[in-house]
Amino acid sequence: MFSCFFLTLGSTTDKKWDFSSIESKFSLRTPGKPDEDTCLIVPGQETSVSQCSFNHTSKTFVVIHGWTVIGMYESWVPKLVKALYQREPHSNVIVVDWLSRSSLHYPDSAAYTKEVGEDVAKFVDWLEEQFSYSLNKVHLLGYSLGAHVAGIAGSLTTNKINRITGLDPAGPNFEYAEASVRLSPDDAVFVDVLHTFTRGSPDRSIGIQKPVGHVDIYPNGGIFQPGCNVAQALLLIAEGGLQDADQLLKCSHERSIHLFIDSLLYEEKPIMAYRCNSKEAFDKGLCLSCRKNRCNNLGYKANRVRSKRGTKMYLKTRSQMPYKVYHYQVKIHFFAKVNTTKKDQQFRLSFYGTKDESENIAISLPEISTNKTHSFLIYTEVDIGDLLIVKIQWEKGSFLDWADWWGTPEFGIQKVRVKAGETQKKLVFCSRDGFSYLKKGGGAVEFVRCLGKNSVDHDS
Ligand SMILES: *[C@@H]1O[C@H](CO)[C@@H](O)[C@H](O)[C@H]1NC(C)=O
Ligand SMILES: *[C@@H]1O[C@H](CO)[C@@H](O)[C@H](O)[C@H]1NC(C)=O
Ligand SMILES: *[C@@H]1O[C@H](CO)[C@@H](O)[C@H](O)[C@H]1NC(C)=O
Repeated sequence: MFSCFFLTLGSTTDKKWDFSSIESKFSLRTPGKPDEDTCLIVPGQETSVSQCSFNHTSKTFVVIHGWTVIGMYESWVPKLVKALYQREPHSNVIVVDWLSRSSLHYPDSAAYTKEVGEDVAKFVDWLEEQFSYSLNKVHLLGYSLGAHVAGIAGSLTTNKINRITGLDPAGPNFEYAEASVRLSPDDAVFVDVLHTFTRGSPDRSIGIQKPVGHVDIYPNGGIFQPGCNVAQALLLIAEGGLQDADQLLKCSHERSIHLFIDSLLYEEKPIMAYRCNSKEAFDKGLCLSCRKNRCNNLGYKANRVRSKRGTKMYLKTRSQMPYKVYHYQVKIHFFAKVNTTKKDQQFRLSFYGTKDESENIAISLPEISTNKTHSFLIYTEVDIGDLLIVKIQWEKGSFLDWADWWGTPEFGIQKVRVKAGETQKKLVFCSRDGFSYLKKGGGAVEFVRCLGKNSVDHDS
């Protein structure tokens, strides 16, 4: 089917300028009325471009919505439009209206991504040919099914579109689809993707699970997002009524958009993501390196790296905007005279820095054992500045914790090594007494910056 389309495009240009098949509408929004379709650009009608005050020297963002139950724009559309104009006041923000096809039965709407992609491709190709408007200035942003629309459009244009951002591209019907009918790295010079709701088996996941761009970021593991769990959902329904229920079902899916909006609005607080082989390795703090493009900015200011296909990037976020957190790898060697292994132990860490502090960060270690170094990830919601003091407390187990009845377990700790992801600084913290003893259920143990040449971590 696709080769057919290519042939038609290639053989006669007349056919290409047949706009009769276009059903999608292209609305150039304005900063003053980000929520209204006040001016439509009609492919083939040159006057509509000037009537809508299209700025030929500026860049253009094309926002493409996804499947909608309600047949109307969702509330994120004006928010994204507004944020784009706030960051790039002279840009052209165009919203693609394919609502009539996107509010059908899901499989039907999913199939229509092909036609809508063709519409978008014809539209930008026409802008380029008619006005010499370079596709170098075009950035498509597609959410859910809209991400695949953007991908299909990008695969059909005469010249390559500069950038496509896929915001939690839809999974059902696309997870196992060929690259030509979904978003893929070939669809633009740079393709960046946020995966925020990939819970469940691959054929059930709302968001596509596999990497489909040059940079694929999985915030909070990409499975679901903080603030979107059932308890919080019920609380919000209690407060906001049932009309928000629909919103909550999509909470994690839509978080991809709000993370992108965050990157537009909080320029001074760029959110970092880190390349990692697995979510599990990331949660151990093993992937906070920025060497060789291993870290990148999430969202608008993503660096254009062409990492090896299929690499995933991870980060943690807050549950609300601004979403940025500060990541740390903590490494501790537990000394003891006797060999012991303890499973599922709870600790609390407190970080005190030059700017702020973050106390009692709960951390659960699946296993700790004698004379082994343990590594784990900690994150703070505030920027504490340079870390000065680390405190660790080992929480009391439950009454049923039989293993602890024969005496309180205890480990000696000499040093705590900390690597900060955001600053890439590695520091070593020492016990004031050379050795400190961490007792289960006991008080917090304090570590301060080591003196002299021990203060900076040179290994690893
Ligand atoms: C068009 O955008 C450029 C920046 O790209 C800006 O300098 C110019 O003022 C804009 N023109 C209008 C009419 O807004
Ligand atoms: C752990 O290492 C320390 C120091 O190297 C040593 O004194 C101790 O005996 C070791 N513990 C065990 C159980 O082997
Ligand atoms: C502790 O275990 C290690 C490795 O399993 C062993 O080499 C060592 O001898 C043990 N130490 C004691 C004191 O049992």
